[in-house]
Amino acid sequence: MALSDCKLIELPKIEDRRGNLTFVEGQNHIPFDIKRVYYLYDVPGGADRGEHAHKDLHQFVICMSGSFDLLLDDGFQKKRFHLNRSYYGVYICPMIWRYLDNFSSGSVCRVMASAPYDEADYIRDRQDFLQAVGAQ
Ligand code: TYD
Repeated sequence: MALSDCKLIELPKIEDRRGNLTFVEGQNHIPFDIKRVYYLYDVPGGADRGEHAHKDLHQFVICMSGSFDLLLDDGFQKKRFHLNRSYYGVYICPMIWRYLDNFSSGSVCRVMASAPYDEADYIRDRQDFLQAVGAQ
């Protein structure tokens, strides 16, 4: 798995004059089963989130409201996504460093993950990450 596997995925959008509807199915729209959902909200202006990698976790990040930037890197190359629509999301494969910033006020970031929370799956030290991917 590599940075090239991390991509913007367009989700189904059922347009209706009563309001639009979007859905996500594990192993259909995204390449893993969803075992956990969490969200970031009430993010104060100027705050950054993320700054870690996961050893085995697959994730899918959707901007449910407002906007923010998602920066991904594999230790060699970077990709930046500006997310501001709830019918798009970014798939993040394991062993990718992620960083979230530029949160607009009132923004909500929803993340779907392939496993329950496990601190042992995190790589929180940048040097450890660069060593693990052979970039240092
Ligand atoms: P963390 O993943 O480090 O947040 P971010 O990368 O967005 O800055 O998580 C922040 C804290 O929340 C950390 O103490 C772990 C805890 N946490 C859980 O208990 N369960 C979860 O599902 C998540 C994502 C975090």
